[in-house]
Parts: sequence; C-alpha cells; structure tokens
Amino acid sequence: MKVTSAEIVISAVSQKQYPNDPLLPEIALAGRSNVGKSSFINKMINRKNLARTSSKPGKTQTLNFYKINDVFYFVDVPGYGYAKVSKKEREAWGKMLEEYFVERKNLKAAALIVDIRHDPTADDITMYNFFKHYELPVVVIATKLDKVAKNKRESHMRRTMKVLELEDGDVVIPFSSETAEGKEKAWKAIEHFINW
Ligand code: GTP
Ligand code: MG
Repeated sequence: MKVTSAEIVISAVSQKQYPNDPLLPEIALAGRSNVGKSSFINKMINRKNLARTSSKPGKTQTLNFYKINDVFYFVDVPGYGYAKVSKKEREAWGKMLEEYFVERKNLKAAALIVDIRHDPTADDITMYNFFKHYELPVVVIATKLDKVAKNKRESHMRRTMKVLELEDGDVVIPFSSETAEGKEKAWKAIEHFINW
C-alpha cells in the first residue's frame, strides 16, 4: 500500500472513545513492552515518529488509533511484560485490552510483534493463544532482524515458529524497523485482512 496520509485520530482508554466515524477496518499491534510495536507502525507508514517510540519500556499507554489513507486504522497498544507497573495498572491494562480485542467488531487481525533475537516469551505464547481462542487472525512479525547475523536468521525464525506452535496457515514475517526488511511482505499480509 502506498501511504499518502496517516494521522492520529484518538488515544482511547475505553470503548466509548473509539472512533466510529467512519467505521473502518482495524489492525491492532500486540507484543512485549519495548519490542518495537510503535516502530513497526512508523516504518510501515514511512513516518519517523508519528507513533511515539522510546528506548524505555512502557511508552505507549493508551489505545492509539492511526487512520491510514482513510482506508483502515493501525491501533497501537501498550506492551505487556513490563515489570515496573503496579498490580492495579496491570489489571486496568488487561481490562482495556481485553475489551478491545474481544469486543471490537472492526478489528480484522492482530500483528503480534516478537523479538527475533530471542525465543518468544510465555506472555507471547499466551497472547498468540488468546487470539487463536477468539478466532482473530494473527500475523506474527519477528522484528529487530537487523540485530541477527545473516547466517543465524533461519534458525531464529525456526525457533520462533516452534516455540509459538504456529498453526497451519499462520506466517511469521522477519522484519526490521531499521532496514525496512520484510515491509512488503507485512503489507501483503495486512492488505489481505483489510481487503484492500
Ligand atoms: P511500548 O510502547 O513500551 O510497549 O514499546 P514498543 O513495542 O512500542 O517499542 P518501540 O517501538 O517504542 O521501540 C522500542 C525500542 O526498540 C526503541 O529504542 C526502538 O528504536 C527499538 N527498535 C524497534 N524496532 C527495532 C528494529 O527493528 N531494529 C532495531 N535495531 N531497533 C528497533
Ligand atoms: Mg509503543
């Protein structure tokens, strides 16, 4: 997709704030805190810092709806697995995310971002299985590919697929927000779900 416009429409914490004018398809990000969800959005839409990123985990705190080409939304989501949040915050986060991922009709697929350098975490596996349970299509993006030597990439990809116990038909796309590797493939996968 050639991106000609991208704008933040709203940072939402509850359903009544979600955009509904117009009702466009949505692709939501999911993944560990600091794994590169916001960076993924920026690279896909050729914007350096529309989705705010940080080297410190916990940057994204709300559901951020980015309208792309007036055709669909990327929904940036707070990451999981960040140790420094209180139990109360974690519960509020869980409720906000569950409400969105389970009930949102416009949501067409999740882009689950994992770090290609390491095996997916227990939380990554839980998240993948959560999407499977609710029959939400998932595109797994294995990011930070630039940090893995070329001759090691194949084995890291295999580990990722094995640890997640990927279902038939699901794909893992190796990706880098530094080099844009995997960008075309990621767009193909996403376009499929928004019927572009
Ligand atoms: P939260 O909002 O805290 O959940 O984090 P996030 O998943 O949105 O991560 P973010 O995009 O803010 O990126 C975290 C850090 O990882 C930043 O310092 C990014 O520059 C870096 N980063 C993200 N993607 C890549 C990548 O593909 N390669 C490299 N080398 N660094 C990356
Ligand atoms: Mg973020």
